[in-house]
Amino acid sequence: MKEFLLKQGVSENLLDEVEKFTKFYDLDKNYEYRIPHLKYKYYGKETWEKAIAAILSGSHILLSGPKATGKNVLAENLAFLFKRPLWTISLNISSDPASLIGSDTFKNNEVVLKKGPVYEAGLAGGFAVFDEINMAKNEALSVVHSALDYRRVLDVSGYDRLNLHEATRFIATMNYGYIGTRDLNEALVSRFLVIDMPTITDSDLKKLILENTNLREDYVDLFVRLFLDLQEKSLNSEISSKAIDLRGMLAAIDLMEHGLSIKSSLELGIADKTFDSYEKEIVEDIIDTLFKSGIKSGDLFVG
Ligand SMILES: Nc1ncnc2c1ncn2[C@@H]1O[C@H](COP(=O)(O)OP(=O)(O)OP(=O)(O)O)[C@@H](O)[C@H]1O
Ligand SMILES: [Mg+2]
Repeated sequence: MKEFLLKQGVSENLLDEVEKFTKFYDLDKNYEYRIPHLKYKYYGKETWEKAIAAILSGSHILLSGPKATGKNVLAENLAFLFKRPLWTISLNISSDPASLIGSDTFKNNEVVLKKGPVYEAGLAGGFAVFDEINMAKNEALSVVHSALDYRRVLDVSGYDRLNLHEATRFIATMNYGYIGTRDLNEALVSRFLVIDMPTITDSDLKKLILENTNLREDYVDLFVRLFLDLQEKSLNSEISSKAIDLRGMLAAIDLMEHGLSIKSSLELGIADKTFDSYEKEIVEDIIDTLFKSGIKSGDLFVG
């Protein structure tokens, strides 16, 4: 991982500090299984440096940005880099304090606390992800305000308060522009440092595709082009953002490797995500211009 980050130009100084952090905060063997295994590595030097510095300084971070900008991938990468166990808490309108902190349960005829993910992360010095934090009601989160600020304590009614383990960090993600999302309450936002997640650069996108697929290098550029063209159309308000879906594009490449035709694969992963026929036509035009009808999915891959 260190080599990967140095290659991206991430400051060596920061990485040395990370190493000190991981040496200083031992991890209980019982939690090792919670250090994530990475499927994707996160690309983006500035964002890496912001996130690493924020975590080293003891802060919690809020990753805000459009869909598929790698918010969850970055959160996992951070837990991996800092060697901390990770809890991911999916928030929604019905999330309540008990689902975060815990609830009473019977054990040997006694009422005990069944620990929730925030409690466990606070105990273990883990990283806890509040995923899609803006989907949750404010009341659900106000119970963790004192854990998120300088007090770093979790009040659990009826039980002893928990002082968070020093290595505990909270990483919130939010997706702006979705229906159903609300503006975050100021008191909550002020407890985080905010990282505005950029969309991936074309050279990083190329590296990402090369590393995660078996595409031949000369074809990788076609997919980078496709992504950029779609992005440009959306920036010019010619199409919505529905079709600009990196997750969908990687999935489509996977389908092609399984032998599905290029056209069908891109329909499944990209074009059919817009349900507006006018928009779909524009997207299909872009696809047809880039992928001339002669190419077969089998030709795209090495070996
Ligand atoms: N900068 C990046 N580095 C690595 N992968 C990226 C990057 N940007 C996007 N991706 C890719 O985009 C896909 C989606 O990533 P992820 O699920 O983390 O996005 P997200 O921002 O959490 O999306 P959503 O808002 O829809 O939840 C993954 O395949 C991931 O590899
Ligand atoms: Mg996400």
